[in-house]
Amino acid sequence: MAKLTKMDDIVSLCKRRGFIFQSSEIYGGLASCYDYGPLGVELKNNIKKAWWKSVVQMRDDVVGLDCSILMHPLVWKASGHADHFSDLVAECRKCNTRTRVDQLKDAPGGAAAGPAGAGDLGGKVCPSCGTAGNFTQPMPFKLMFETSMGANREDAMTLYLRPETAQGIFANFRNVLDTTRVKIPFGIAQIGKSFRNEVTTKAFIFRTREFEQAELEFFCEPGTDENWFGHWKEQRFNWYLDLGIKKENLRFREHEKDELAHYAKGCADIEYLFPFGSGDWQELEGIANRTDYDLRQHQRGIRTSNSWQESKGDLSKVTLREEEADYMKGPLSYYDEEKKGRYIPYVIEPSAGIDRSTLAFLVDAYDEEEVRGETRNVLRFSPALAPVKAGIFPLTNKEGMPQTARNLYNSLRGRFNCFYDEKGAIGRRYRRQDEAGTPFCITVDGQTAQDQAVTVRERDSMVQTRVALDQVKNYLSEKLGL
Ligand code: GAP
Repeated sequence: MAKLTKMDDIVSLCKRRGFIFQSSEIYGGLASCYDYGPLGVELKNNIKKAWWKSVVQMRDDVVGLDCSILMHPLVWKASGHADHFSDLVAECRKCNTRTRVDQLKDAPGGAAAGPAGAGDLGGKVCPSCGTAGNFTQPMPFKLMFETSMGANREDAMTLYLRPETAQGIFANFRNVLDTTRVKIPFGIAQIGKSFRNEVTTKAFIFRTREFEQAELEFFCEPGTDENWFGHWKEQRFNWYLDLGIKKENLRFREHEKDELAHYAKGCADIEYLFPFGSGDWQELEGIANRTDYDLRQHQRGIRTSNSWQESKGDLSKVTLREEEADYMKGPLSYYDEEKKGRYIPYVIEPSAGIDRSTLAFLVDAYDEEEVRGETRNVLRFSPALAPVKAGIFPLTNKEGMPQTARNLYNSLRGRFNCFYDEKGAIGRRYRRQDEAGTPFCITVDGQTAQDQAVTVRERDSMVQTRVALDQVKNYLSEKLGL
C-alpha cells in the first residue's frame, strides 16, 4: 500500500506547490487534460532541454526540426493512421462505458461468469460498474482528433491533430537533406504536442489526450539498422539514469512479434516502475526499428496524389518491379556517394513522452524523512532538472540584509533560475524549497556585513557551509555542474 500513498502524495504535492493543475479547474475541470504551473513548467522545460542537449546539441549526426501540428490529410493516409490508428473497444450494455478490449480484466470465476451471448468477452468484467460479460461486439474506435480548416463550408478541409510528431519529420526528410550537409547515418529530432482521443486515460499525467513527445528519427543504411537500434537503446536508457532515475526502477521490455506495430521490425520499451496500485511497470519510451516503411509509404503517397496519377495512370497496373525502380528514383530515396548506390533508408526511432517522464522524475525524486520529529518532504531532483537552482533569503528584514540578498539574487539570476523570499521563519522557507526540489538555499545573516560571507544550505544533506559573497556564483556552478 505504501506505493499507492506515494502516488496520492505526489498528486497532492504537485497541486499544493504549483507543479501541475487540472485543466479548466475553475469550470469543474476537463478530464485527462493538465496544466503545468510555475514550478511544473520549469521542470518540464528542463527535461526538454536535457533531451535536446543529449540527442541534438552533443551530437554531430542529429539536427532539429519543429513542424506544424496540422498537416495535409494525405500524410495520415500514407502513414496508415487515417485507416488503422484505432483501439478495439467494447461497450458495457449495463452502464454504456466503453473500454479498450486489451485492458478488460478477467471476472472472478473466468469465462463462466458472463451471460450467454457475450462472445469472447464472456469472462471479462466492466471496470466501471463491475458487471461481468455483458458487452457489445468489439469495434474499432479512431484515436485521431478531427478538426476542419477554412472559412467556407464548401471548401473546408477535414484535418487531424497529429497523433505523433514523427510524420512531420518524414515529410521533411528531403528538405533537410537538401538544405544541410547531413549524410546517412543521421537523425532528425523534434519535441512537440501530440493528440490522441484515448479511450482510457490513466493516473494523472501518465496517459492524457494532449501530451508532448520527444522523438528522433534516425536514418541509416539497411543492414546497419540492428547496430543503431542497440546504440539508441543504450543511449536512451542511460539518459534516464544520468538524470537521477534509480536503476532498480528502470528496465527494458522487448515487444513480442505479435504486439509489434504494423511498421516495426523490432521494438523495445523502456519501462518505469510507477506507483500505481502496488507498483506497475509501464512504458516510458519506445525504441522502434521502423525499417523503410514510412519513407516508402510517403513516396507512394506522393505518387498516388493527383499529379502523379495524371502522368502514370492507374496505380494498380504498376508492377512491383516498376514501383521499386521508381522508389529508387524518388525524392525520398538517398544516394550514397561513398557506396555509389541508392536506397531507401531504414529508421530507428526513440520516442519519449515528456509528460510521462516528468511524472517518472517526480516520483523518483520524491522522498519523505523524519527530521527532529517532523516529516520533511523533499524532491531530490538532479541539478539539471531542478526548477529552481537556488533560493536566496535575508535572515530578517533588518540591518541591510534584504538589500544584500537582493544584490546577490540579481547577480545570480542571469545564470541560474533563482527565487528570492524574505517572508516567514527561515526553517519554513527551507522546507518550501525542499518541496520544490531546490538544491541550494543561501541565507544572508547578521554576520554577512562583517565577513562578506553567506550560509549555503544543501538540500539533500542539509549541511550548511559558509561561502564568501563573491564566490557564491563559482561555488554554485561547481556544485550544480552547470
Ligand atoms: N512515433 C511513435 C509513437 O508515437 P508511441 O509508443 O505511441 O509511439 C511514444 O508513443 C511515447 O509517447 C510513449 O512511450 C509515451 O511516453 C508517450 N505517449 C503516448 N501516448 C501518450 C498519452 N496518451 N499520454 C501521455 N504520453 C503518451
